Amino acid sequence: MPVTIAQLQKWKQQKKSIAALTATDYAIAKLLDKAGVDLVLVGDSLAMVALGYKNTLPVTLDDMIRHAQAVGRGIENALLIVDLPFLSYQVSTEEAMRSAGRIFKETDAKGIKLEGGYPEMVETIRRLVQVGIPVMGHVGLTPQSVHRIGYRVQGVTPEGAQEILHQSKALVEAGIFALLLENIPEKLATQITELIPVPTIGIGAGTGCDGQILVTHDVLGLSDWQPPFARKYADLQSTITDAVKQYCQDVRSQ
Ligand code: KIV
Repeated sequence: MPVTIAQLQKWKQQKKSIAALTATDYAIAKLLDKAGVDLVLVGDSLAMVALGYKNTLPVTLDDMIRHAQAVGRGIENALLIVDLPFLSYQVSTEEAMRSAGRIFKETDAKGIKLEGGYPEMVETIRRLVQVGIPVMGHVGLTPQSVHRIGYRVQGVTPEGAQEILHQSKALVEAGIFALLLENIPEKLATQITELIPVPTIGIGAGTGCDGQILVTHDVLGLSDWQPPFARKYADLQSTITDAVKQYCQDVRSQ
């Protein structure tokens, strides 16, 4: 049965944890779906793990759409969410609307995710929701702001924690269907999860969230570097290197 946004809400009430992962291509998306992942995010981290950039900033809306189309073709049941990339939604609400519109017209996405909980972004999200676009919020460490905040844990000071709490409530009030909490203290993530009526999906935010997400390349050991909170469940770099070495050896010894 395809997972719906309404289902995520029910799972929060039933305290059933949501298992989410990222995908960048058809083959991996198909495997994630077959393995029973609830939510697949075409995250803008594909800039690094699929396109080889240093951070998420260079990825374009066309890149996101091309990858989301491929991922969508591999998915039968998981809920497909797509990130809006840097500067495709921050300049104006009109631009956010056009970017989100392209995602919905050109892919099978059931929702979009965008970063930030400051007042202008809250207003943009309110407008997107008004026209029928399901939005997942994203607060805490927001990688599109890397040059301002770095990759540090956010919400560590009492003022910082208060600000993230305030942004989370404002985003809920604007109509988000779920909230991604990235790299914030477990206590704060648990507090937000208990306070807001929509599911929280954590990454580096402890075990108190309604669900968890990781970057699939980190989980499978395909990336050169993993953040400390990302548990590696396989070492595909070694598996692939060994297999390819064996192939080269076989070809050369024919
Ligand atoms: O782009 C991404 O991979 C993300 C992570 C926080 C899951 O947004």
